[in-house]
Amino acid sequence: MSDLTKAVIPAAGLGTRFLPATKAIPKEMLPVVDRPAIQYVVEEAVAAGLDDVLMVTGRNKGALEDHFDRQWELEQALEAKGDTHRLERVRHSAVLANVHYVRQGDPRGLGHAVLCAEQHVGDEPFAVLLGDDLIDARDTLLQQMIAVQRERGGSVVALMEVPPEQTNMYGCAAIDESGSEGDVVKVTGLVEKPEPADAPSNLAIIGRYVLDPSVFAVLHDTPPGRGNEIQLTDALMTLAGRPVEQGGTVWGVVFRGRRYDTGDRLDYLKAVVRLGQEHEEFGADFAAWLKEHVGS
Ligand code: G1P
Repeated sequence: MSDLTKAVIPAAGLGTRFLPATKAIPKEMLPVVDRPAIQYVVEEAVAAGLDDVLMVTGRNKGALEDHFDRQWELEQALEAKGDTHRLERVRHSAVLANVHYVRQGDPRGLGHAVLCAEQHVGDEPFAVLLGDDLIDARDTLLQQMIAVQRERGGSVVALMEVPPEQTNMYGCAAIDESGSEGDVVKVTGLVEKPEPADAPSNLAIIGRYVLDPSVFAVLHDTPPGRGNEIQLTDALMTLAGRPVEQGGTVWGVVFRGRRYDTGDRLDYLKAVVRLGQEHEEFGADFAAWLKEHVGS
């Protein structure tokens, strides 16, 4: 059985879609209900057994390190007040996982961000989680992907059906129906952000990957692609054409659960409203308020 304990979270993006909110704080720190978006992603990795987390950061991302560290003054103040509930919430993010950091000096794309993890990951399969996609904690997508990787080897991507006009926002997969089994499909081709007319299907990669370490060697040889960036999708296309014994083969897990997109402003608002209604403390009140005030 492969030793899968590491998660890589690319977090070097500039967050330009959220300016000016992200002028002085990283987009990963924007709150989704009552936690920064990035905390959901780390919690998802930990829930899947991956408590060694490498964040690929860049300039102006210091708040991420502070968030996953202890905050002694705050903890002492809460302790002195006997506010154990908030104390527990403040400590939680610091003890959640072993979080490591590496900086991506040049913003040369997602494939390049993954390459920055090479030394930390070494020769083991590992997961990549993109922070713009939140997967509902009740859905066990990553666990399922890890199980597929352990059983079959190769690499695994999460796929979701999207409206055909949205294919140009995602990496899209061609699949071999005959190699499919339930939610697990064999990926035969991948295209980064194709126009609808050129898309091999409307199965889009959502931001979860479990990768064979041979992806690093492939990324080293992958020329800049769409947007003049080194694309992870292009490296996976190469792996899809290689036999499993050589670290190749790409499987897709088709996800039909709850995914929240926090990548742009409108989707972010939708995510906050949907998750706000689920909140254990005030979700019911918020849902009742929405019913009364929205659409009237
Ligand atoms: C990245 C990937 C793309 C994938 C998407 C999922 O694009 O390049 O293949 O479908 O994440 O969110 P980005 O959204 O970073 O432009």
